Amino acid sequence: MDYEAFFGAEIAGLHREGRYRVFTDLERHAGRFPHATHHHGGGTRPVTVWCSNDYLGMGQHPSVLEAMHEALDRCGAGAGGTRNISGTNHYHVLLERELADLHRKEAALLFTSGYVSNWAALGTLASRLPNCAVFSDSENHASMIEGIRFSRAERHIFRHNDPEDLDRKLALVDPARPKLVAFESVYSMDGDIAPIGEICDVAEKHGALTYLDEVHAVGLYGQRGGGISERDGVAHRLDVIEGTLGKAFAVHGGYITASEKLCDFVRSFASGFIFTTSLPPAVAAGAAASIRHLKSSEAERARHQERVAKVRAALDAADIPTMPNDSHIVPVMVCDPVLCKGISDTLLDEFGIYVQPINYPTVARGTERLRITPSPLHTDEDIGRLVDALTTIWGRIGLRQKAAE
Ligand SMILES: Cc1ncc(COP(=O)(O)O)c(C=O)c1O
Repeated sequence: MDYEAFFGAEIAGLHREGRYRVFTDLERHAGRFPHATHHHGGGTRPVTVWCSNDYLGMGQHPSVLEAMHEALDRCGAGAGGTRNISGTNHYHVLLERELADLHRKEAALLFTSGYVSNWAALGTLASRLPNCAVFSDSENHASMIEGIRFSRAERHIFRHNDPEDLDRKLALVDPARPKLVAFESVYSMDGDIAPIGEICDVAEKHGALTYLDEVHAVGLYGQRGGGISERDGVAHRLDVIEGTLGKAFAVHGGYITASEKLCDFVRSFASGFIFTTSLPPAVAAGAAASIRHLKSSEAERARHQERVAKVRAALDAADIPTMPNDSHIVPVMVCDPVLCKGISDTLLDEFGIYVQPINYPTVARGTERLRITPSPLHTDEDIGRLVDALTTIWGRIGLRQKAAE
């Protein structure tokens, strides 16, 4: 086989469909978020980043940086091993305590990313609970889907955010079998929010375990940043709460929180936990500092919500089409992959604004979008420049569409 020709043809297909991914080479500057330097074509230019998942700007917070510097100087660069073989550093232990406390659970377990935490925890639970049936929301993230698939457990997909459909599907399975319901709180692309309490009602009725991914909500919602489950007063009803340390907490890593026994079980059987070097101590120290700060400070969350409302209102006033939702994610709908990439390129090249296009398979074909994530650090001026740029581009597209008609 001509392997190179095969790779080339597959990539050419992505180009044709307008969904070839181009990485934007950024240099972030601590102290100047959301402004960054874009390296391109041998040169550089300043850009404002509007699509970061460092939702609150904690990646430059002095207490996080100080904790990381201190741990780096005390413990050195890496952890030096897997958790089992010399790689459990005291910072990991402290971070797991911080996480268990955040979600008011008995225990927590760290993983090298949110992706790995979902893949490993769901894969382990669903494969080792005897004859387990898994009920997965149709919009679940790739990491959950892959974990469930890896488990080879029987899988039932319920309609997105639909407790009645879940109820119907659970009712079809033998009541004696173990069951696991896996879903998210804030869905990252549409920004819609799950009816967690109602899903717990249904799961309880059928004796199913509940597994909630709070990746896009931890740090951002609830009085202490415990996510939507904290905000809605239902955290105690969930068997497993999973999260990331890489988005609002702005460092790196993933975790589950649950009962002592469940965490011990995953710790003991999950290959994705056991056979990999643990997080660098400085990363664990930075994440713990970020969580601690957001447990007691409401200021970032309040300003975040205010900025999101301001961006939404400005886009509405300018007639830029957005998908409505109750979260901090503002999807600007373009609904064409080539146009979406073109608008993103124009924003970057002409206006110094960076918003990555989101195309298939991240979202369904025909729903391509610019996913805008306002942060507490975006100023009124930043918002004004974003909306002016989009208005100019939308005007041009309108003219072009009319010319084509
Ligand atoms: C819903 C959801 N879960 C899990 C992850 C993975 O988390 P991490 O980036 O920490 O690997 C992501 C995205 O990154 C996500 O959107």
